[in-house]
Amino acid sequence: MKVSTARCNDLITIGDDRFQVKLHSDFIPRPGQFMLARFWTSTYPYLNTVVFPTTTESDGFTLEIKSDHPQSVDLSPGAKVDLIGPCGQPVIINRSANHLLLVAHNSPSKLLPFAQLALERGVDVTLLVSCSYPLESLDPRIEVHQGELPPLLENHFAWAEQVLMDFRPEPIIHKLLDSISSNTYVLCGTLFPCGVGACHGCTIYTKTGWKLACKQGPFFQLSELHIEVE
Ligand code: FES
Repeated sequence: MKVSTARCNDLITIGDDRFQVKLHSDFIPRPGQFMLARFWTSTYPYLNTVVFPTTTESDGFTLEIKSDHPQSVDLSPGAKVDLIGPCGQPVIINRSANHLLLVAHNSPSKLLPFAQLALERGVDVTLLVSCSYPLESLDPRIEVHQGELPPLLENHFAWAEQVLMDFRPEPIIHKLLDSISSNTYVLCGTLFPCGVGACHGCTIYTKTGWKLACKQGPFFQLSELHIEVE
């Protein structure tokens, strides 16, 4: 478990309800990993905020936070941020992939490090998103489609060589993606009370048994997951 202190370099408003927080940090999460952040001082160990980077640089990373987040008031340029992590396992982007598909039910922010890495490698990136989002804040090289996810997926999954999803797919989508389920990664949970495998509050039942999302995830192959029938 790595514990460090980062410093807030800048806050940039995006859209009308969120902003980007630029952190100077010695530890940089890789795509798929998260950090536990604390924007204020307390000795209670379970009040961290789970943060996924949106982009990374050699000396820090950027995260996205909603303006109404209770801890956003503690953030300002120069403020210290206590960090634990990187936590979880990174997801490797296939070297042979030419086209990456990102699918988000809510904010796509947790998937954006994959877009950054793929674009750096010259891989095409398409994002399907079903919520409203300040799209002007995204890299213009990302092809974006907004709307209902099942029909969007039906139109776009055939050419995708790797898929990253920030929502648990219903059976119909599970079936649709069956042929590429081992190249489809699903974010399983974003609540990690301890983030380090101690509390067992993030267990996921997979085809190979119980797993801790904070240690062995948080992204799991779709082929590993049970179809959730309601
Ligand atoms: S969050 Fe505590 S074990 Fe995973």
